[in-house]
Amino acid sequence: MVSSKQESAVVTGAASGIGREAALALARRGAAVALLDRDGAKARALADEIVRAGGRAIAATADVADSAQVKAAIDAAVTAHEGLDTVVAAAGIALTGSVLQMAEADWHRTIAVNLTGPYLTARHAMPHLLERGGGSYVAISSDAGIRGSMGFAAYCASKHAVVGLVRCLALDHGHQGIRSNAVCPSFVDTPMADQLLADDNVPEKSFYERRVPLGRFAQAAEVARVILHLTSAEASYTNGMFYVIDGGTTAGTYTAAPA
Ligand SMILES: NC(=O)c1ccc[n+]([C@@H]2O[C@H](COP(=O)([O-])OP(=O)(O)OC[C@H]3O[C@@H](n4cnc5c(N)ncnc54)[C@H](O)[C@@H]3O)[C@@H](O)[C@H]2O)c1
Repeated sequence: MVSSKQESAVVTGAASGIGREAALALARRGAAVALLDRDGAKARALADEIVRAGGRAIAATADVADSAQVKAAIDAAVTAHEGLDTVVAAAGIALTGSVLQMAEADWHRTIAVNLTGPYLTARHAMPHLLERGGGSYVAISSDAGIRGSMGFAAYCASKHAVVGLVRCLALDHGHQGIRSNAVCPSFVDTPMADQLLADDNVPEKSFYERRVPLGRFAQAAEVARVILHLTSAEASYTNGMFYVIDGGTTAGTYTAAPA
């Protein structure tokens, strides 16, 4: 982030859930935000909401797995908002199944969106961050990026790989003033979680809530606050890290709350 110019941010997956809250939080911080989503209509509606509230926002319909679409959307953001400082790669999908249960097409789509998406976002954003002389990149991984989860083979593989990607971005570009980090939430109350919990192969919500020491799912706004921190000067020495926000879920074996 630079002090003399208005912060310019790109958020993928900005139409819903964590990406939406991150975009709103960045706009409240004063950033001009570019909202990328495959659901362009919802992204545009959010951009309009931000503009009505006095902020600066544009929206683009883009599939994060499509290099040309990601490049066009990021370049448009750079033109509209005179550069780029902050990148949040939040677009993602959660398809379930073991390697035997899952169709090969679902494996490839998961990797395309959840891993190639953050890669393409970094690939097309980095030249602009370098031009600015620094900036920050945050990708949303998951607690499934630091441990396995039964029935989530492709999702876990993609989210572990995002942690590896972020570590390499940190090593390759830290010396150029670009900090790269990952955020690893456990379940967050978003449309993605609702959709997952409606899956017959996935246990019900209370099963997962019982495994969280804080006893509930995170709110998207709580995750957005971590993203806000990691992309701010407050986190000026944080690079190549994964920030786990999981209510204590991965701290150790948790059996039950005392009566
Ligand atoms: N909700 C959770 O419990 C949870 C937990 C850990 C990590 N995450 C991760 O957080 C991120 C955001 O998830 P969420 O819960 O906000 O989900 P969500 O479904 O509410 O929002 C995801 C957004 O990404 C967009 N998107 C999906 N595929 C896309 C593509 N190919 N190109 C462009 N946009 C695309 C969707 O249209 C949607 O607007 C994801 O990467 C997800 O894996 C979510």
